[in-house]
Amino acid sequence: MATPESNEQASGTGRRAVLGAAVLGAGGTVLGLAGTARAAGDPGRGRGRGRGLDSLPVPTIIGHRGASGYRPEHTFGSYQLALDMGADIVEAGDLVPTKDGHLVCRHEPEIGGTTDVADHPEFAGRRTTKTLDGVEVTGWFTEDFTLAELKRLRAVERIPANRPHNTLYNGRWEIPTFEEVLRWQDEQTRGRGKQVWIYPELKHPTYFRKLGLGLEERVAKILRRHGKDRRNSPVILQSFEPTAVERMSRLVGNPLVVLLDAAGTRPWDFTETGDPRTVDDLITPKGLKEIASYAQGIGPTLNLIIPRDSADRLTEPTTLVRDAHRAGLILHPYTMRNENPFLPAEFRKGSAPDAYGDVFGAYRAYFATGIDGVFTDQPDTGLLAREDFVNR
Ligand code: G3P
Ligand code: CA
Repeated sequence: MATPESNEQASGTGRRAVLGAAVLGAGGTVLGLAGTARAAGDPGRGRGRGRGLDSLPVPTIIGHRGASGYRPEHTFGSYQLALDMGADIVEAGDLVPTKDGHLVCRHEPEIGGTTDVADHPEFAGRRTTKTLDGVEVTGWFTEDFTLAELKRLRAVERIPANRPHNTLYNGRWEIPTFEEVLRWQDEQTRGRGKQVWIYPELKHPTYFRKLGLGLEERVAKILRRHGKDRRNSPVILQSFEPTAVERMSRLVGNPLVVLLDAAGTRPWDFTETGDPRTVDDLITPKGLKEIASYAQGIGPTLNLIIPRDSADRLTEPTTLVRDAHRAGLILHPYTMRNENPFLPAEFRKGSAPDAYGDVFGAYRAYFATGIDGVFTDQPDTGLLAREDFVNR
């Protein structure tokens, strides 16, 4: 079954393409998912207007959905490994609601690709087709399940063609809740004697608001209850919908990041409200200045930092890093992945979809642009790449 997955890396066609696993065909053609304490000379101090961000090493290594290169994404197995590897922040998690209003960690409301729900005959009748941000999606949706029902499911690897080893862990972990993540953060912080940071994302806020399951107030309420809604709280919040980020800025003091999809795409909240602006407008100096009035950073696709040509090779960096920094914004682009299909063509090694390419070469190119951090599925690799970069 096809599952929604971002297409940020190779084709630049935007994240609403409905794709499955990334598979390299003969000749290296991308067939499936073609899709990106301060250090390093302290290039960013003062950006993001404090909010605790200054305590993070730069470039900051963010464990994307945990250490999802090694474990099924958005599980405590994945989060724990990211932290144990030394990730500066763990993206725990992408937040979606249940039918009874709890927040759980899944990349999408549709859970057919990341859980064993299809193996539960009692839920067969819940399989349905919905329109999610303008795209028809068939599967099972978190908003149709109570938390107790979701807790009966177990996580599985989303992209087994690229990560066959991760299937070893299929069925091992349940779906985490946001509250469990916040308690885990506290336990880990106490155990390590060092503040653990998390980076939750609000998924499809407009879609869920229309279902009566608004995310922003729920996230704010839970953060408040845990005393993590303040300027210096170690919780960075992110969303692809600028209006949701702006709303969060009125509800909590946490550092906020506006995610940016491929050039030319339009945030779904803008589509719904008739705002004609696209990502191209948001990354102009005027657009960035406006974002800086309520957020501390942006999370662009890597292709907005260095576009790729028709052969999928890197071209020249854009001025986005400079322009965002001038606006006082930090940049945490997404997503670095070690496997061939996700890398620019010149860094691939062979055509095996599960083989690693020269990801260190790719890191060198992206770090050289001055980005403040990066989301990565393999935090250990990212940390080594940072070490190389700061000691260069
Ligand atoms: O949140 C940064 C990055 O995670 C955005 O992409 O699709 O993985 O949520 P996605
Ligand atoms: Ca995310």
